[in-house]
Amino acid sequence: MSIHKDVKKITTNTLQKMKTAKEKIAMITAYDYSFAGLFDAAGIDIILVGDSASNVMAGHETTLPITLDQMIYHASSVVRGVNRSLVVVDLPFGSYQGNSKEALISTIRIMKETGAHAIKLEGGEEVTDSIKRIVYAGVPVMGHLGLTPQSIYKFGTYTVRAKEEEEAEKLKKDALLLQEAGCFGIVLEKIPALLAKEVSESLSIPTIGIGAGMHCDGQVLVMHDMLGITTEFKPRFLRQYLNIHEQATAAVQHYIRDVKGGDFPGEHEQY
Ligand code: KIV
Repeated sequence: MSIHKDVKKITTNTLQKMKTAKEKIAMITAYDYSFAGLFDAAGIDIILVGDSASNVMAGHETTLPITLDQMIYHASSVVRGVNRSLVVVDLPFGSYQGNSKEALISTIRIMKETGAHAIKLEGGEEVTDSIKRIVYAGVPVMGHLGLTPQSIYKFGTYTVRAKEEEEAEKLKKDALLLQEAGCFGIVLEKIPALLAKEVSESLSIPTIGIGAGMHCDGQVLVMHDMLGITTEFKPRFLRQYLNIHEQATAAVQHYIRDVKGGDFPGEHEQY
């Protein structure tokens, strides 16, 4: 039996039941109405309006520049395209690190102005006060551990995190703290598969992996990477399901040829 197919709307309760039933959770990013509608109709469980919009939509090198207003624009577009999936929105860098009150105010703006269902934020022990306050206000929170791109200048590189004992121990402790603080799920990014297995087994809430191996309770990919819209980013963990870059380039070149050759529009494409 498939739990996600039986429900009209995916909720955090659905995800919890999926973990218990060992049914994997499929999550993808989206940033606009059209793709969100397509992914929702295809049956995706969670749509993440990721701050990766800063990279793939705005062309920035990191996720740091995107603003709360810009995230709200993307998230409200996504929500208008969705009927069934759970929509989770990233709190962008600078909108929650100050203190728990700032985190709650940013969350309330997202919930009121977008109609999304949950927020995600990065970090462990240092964000548990904020998580408690947001959950207390009635908003579901997803955590994010391992490679947390908002801290890229602290890490220095995008390499695999928590390979060493000390960092792995901290990550395990942080995962339990996030669960205790009230998170309904945790993204584990770019950590060893065996560590992700241990964390996933130690938690009652679902883990969603990206570059964290096969033992997570679900997986997430950035839509531009898995659809082959971007071409430069080819990490080992990425499975590319389509090559839109190649196909769209060929289509546009075809269009250019047709326009320049006087072939488009034809008799039946005009009034
Ligand atoms: O912003 C994002 O797209 C994310 C995913 C990589 C999990 O946080």
